[in-house]
Order: sequence, then C-alpha cells, then structure tokens
Amino acid sequence: MPTSSEMLEQFEATYAMGDASIDHTHREFLELCVAAAQAQGAAFAERFAALFAHTQAHFADEEARMQASAYPAIGEHRAHHQNLLGDMDRFCQRAGAGRSAMARAWLNDSLPQWFDLHARTMDSALAVHLRQQG
Ligand SMILES: [Fe+2]
Ligand SMILES: [Fe+2]
Repeated sequence: MPTSSEMLEQFEATYAMGDASIDHTHREFLELCVAAAQAQGAAFAERFAALFAHTQAHFADEEARMQASAYPAIGEHRAHHQNLLGDMDRFCQRAGAGRSAMARAWLNDSLPQWFDLHARTMDSALAVHLRQQG
C-alpha cells in the first residue's frame, strides 16, 4: 500500500476523478496526512486535529452534494464516512492527551488504505453520478 505522500505523487493518475471540488479536497486531505505523518512531538497532535477538522468538512461537503442530487447510495457512503470519523475522533483524542503512538500507526497504516479504497469506489461513483446530473 502506498504512503500518503506516494498517493499525492500519483494523484493525477490514480485519484483524480474530474470533479474539481472533490479533487481539490482530496489533495488537501493527503497533504494534511503527510503533514501530520512528518510532525514531531507536540506538533503531531495539532496536525492530527487539523486533519480531523478538514475530514469532517470534506465528508459534510460530499454528503450535502449527495443530498442535493438525490444520490441513491447516500446511506452506504455516509456510513463509510461515519465509521472513519469515529476512529479518527478516538485517535485525535488520544494524540491530544499525549498518547500519539497508536494514532501515528493508524495514520501511517490504516488511513491511506481506507482512503485508497473509499476514493476509488465510493467517491468515484459519486463523481460519476454528479457528472451525469450535470
Ligand atoms: Fe472524499
Ligand atoms: Fe466520500
């Protein structure tokens, strides 16, 4: 599985889906993942919190667009978001309390894998739907 920084390098070929807003947000998401992964000491918790805030807005934007376009798979897509936010919230709280090791491992090992699958399946299906809606 590629790291978030490798995913950013191959963004255009692998993750761009032709929706300017989704693509922009996804690039920012990966940039924030890289920034948190590279942070040392107390900066880690701050950057993890910034990633969490961005991810909440990222998912809320997609869900608003699903709602506005009567997207049939909204329930499944939203459940996938909620699941991730639950994990991210827990690790964010641990990191904020000075227990960063597990948050760091999750950020490096699980989150890139989650994004890779989610972007290439659910978000790309959403982008196709939005394009068809014109
Ligand atoms: Fe997304
Ligand atoms: Fe999504």
